[in-house]
Amino acid sequence: MTAKIIAIANQKGGVGKTTTAVTVAHALALRERRVLLADFDPQGQCATSLAVNPEGGVFNVLVNPVSDIHQWIRETGRTGLDLIPGDRSTATAQIVINAENRSIGTIRQIFRMLSKEYDYIIFDTAPSVGGIQERAIYASDLTLVPTATEFLSMDGLAQMMELLSTLRKEAGWSGELLGILPTFYDEQTSESKKSLEDLRTGFGEGVLPPIHRATVLRECAAEGKTIFEFAPASRASNEYDELARIVVKRS
Ligand SMILES: Nc1ncnc2c1ncn2[C@@H]1O[C@H](COP(=O)(O)OP(=O)(O)O)[C@@H](O)[C@H]1O
Ligand SMILES: [Mg+2]
Repeated sequence: MTAKIIAIANQKGGVGKTTTAVTVAHALALRERRVLLADFDPQGQCATSLAVNPEGGVFNVLVNPVSDIHQWIRETGRTGLDLIPGDRSTATAQIVINAENRSIGTIRQIFRMLSKEYDYIIFDTAPSVGGIQERAIYASDLTLVPTATEFLSMDGLAQMMELLSTLRKEAGWSGELLGILPTFYDEQTSESKKSLEDLRTGFGEGVLPPIHRATVLRECAAEGKTIFEFAPASRASNEYDELARIVVKRS
């Protein structure tokens, strides 16, 4: 069994990337998969969402790829779920990667070393760190694109699809789009409904079942708990568990 690498990416902030990365990672661990979550966002919110010390791991992994990666892996106190936290130093790692002109495959090479130890390796990414996001997507077998169901969401998405297509054509990326994940869905608002319709018109089967807007998702992150710990009977919990089921089926 070789680990499947899944990148969570969108050029836009605040669309549910981190929430999706943390929640899907835990959902897969609860399904008895061995999961590693790596946080490529300098804001380091994966660690705080899981109540783990955010002291930077990703910086060291990226800047010194020949060091033993295991020393940067933290336990999260949850069976089957480990974390390589990120912090502000990740932005510096980006400068180093660009200055050293590292190949597009650099992140893939580093994480491939862990292939036998995990079933899933999940990357949370941020567009702010240019150079890292592209390499994280290039490393992935599957890329998942959370998209807020709101006005103008198609714009960010167009950029994302262009990036995926460039990576495929120019760099030989062999992964695929796992899907577009509509987030913050609210059928009470016409904006949200219209946006979901537009996504389905534009991307058909590529659109996954939506995650509704749910205050509990915000609350649980603030408490350092996942939705499965904080509100296991909630709709948000069911929706993310269903997403994990789809991930397992597709990988
Ligand atoms: N479906 C949702 N409903 C309500 N709030 C959400 C939902 N998904 C995420 N959030 C909250 O919205 C904010 C932005 O989400 P986040 O996952 O950090 O986005 P990103 O990583 O794309 O910037 C966070 O406070 C998060 O808790
Ligand atoms: Mg984020």
